[in-house]
Amino acid sequence: MKRHSPEFGRSKAAFGAVNLSLLLGSASLLIWGGLYVGKYSGRFDPDEFSEIPHGRPPKVVIAALDPSAESIKKGAKIYSQVCVACHQADGNGNPSGGIPPLAGSDWVMAEGPNRLIRIVLHGLEGPVKVNGTTWGQNQMPAQAKSADNPAGLSPEDISHVLSYVRNAWGNKAPMVSMDMVMTVSKETSTQAGYWHPDDLMKMPAMVGGGAPAGAAQTPDQLKAALKALPADQLEALLKEIKK
Ligand code: HEC
Repeated sequence: MKRHSPEFGRSKAAFGAVNLSLLLGSASLLIWGGLYVGKYSGRFDPDEFSEIPHGRPPKVVIAALDPSAESIKKGAKIYSQVCVACHQADGNGNPSGGIPPLAGSDWVMAEGPNRLIRIVLHGLEGPVKVNGTTWGQNQMPAQAKSADNPAGLSPEDISHVLSYVRNAWGNKAPMVSMDMVMTVSKETSTQAGYWHPDDLMKMPAMVGGGAPAGAAQTPDQLKAALKALPADQLEALLKEIKK
């Protein structure tokens, strides 16, 4: 019995030819695809294959996501006008000029910004230990607006720039409000000259002298935290509690 017609034999040959060109076609597509992905995927990093340009997300995106972003944005501008000459754009300071880093600094990232605000208000005279290194070759001048320094920063400016340095270069710490800066500014209105790190360390970290959240867990710790408060604030607090 004859199984194949001559026509079928011919079409089988034609099918083979189609098959070969399909194979070549898909092989070159595969190679092109590989090259394309290789060229544009950025080492297969999922963050890089995106419609947002590589690197940091654009500022508009940050502003839409985070209500603190506006303050941080203003702070970045103030930093670039005031602090950058000494502490540098990358926050790493300038070791040969005796300028300590702000990136990774405990002074910058303390839970409460009481000492940090004081440093910017009135300046600092070392020796000061930052990230395990002792500095003291230079003093930091006062940055607040005053009769002697009319071009200095307002409390609002200081709140923005400190919120920025607490959240730049991988730093992470709570925002600083203008109220905090005004509170510290009032408390220190008689301060003349630079702060010394040893004196700052005797002061509470939190603005207004409060203990960090969750710090006082036993009656003894609570007693110590209350004792650390200035007398008038302790009185005000007791009044408020008794209400
Ligand atoms: C003229 C240079 C100069 C400028 C401007 C300046 N600083 Fe400083 N800053 C210093 C020096 C020097 C020290 C270290 C002082 C010492 O060794 O006694 C310091 C120390 C500090 C410290 C404590 C130590 C540390 O590294 O964490 C902080 C915080 C700080 N500066 C923040 C600021 C901020 C914020 C600004 C801008 C508002 C600013 N500085 C502007 C020179 C400067």
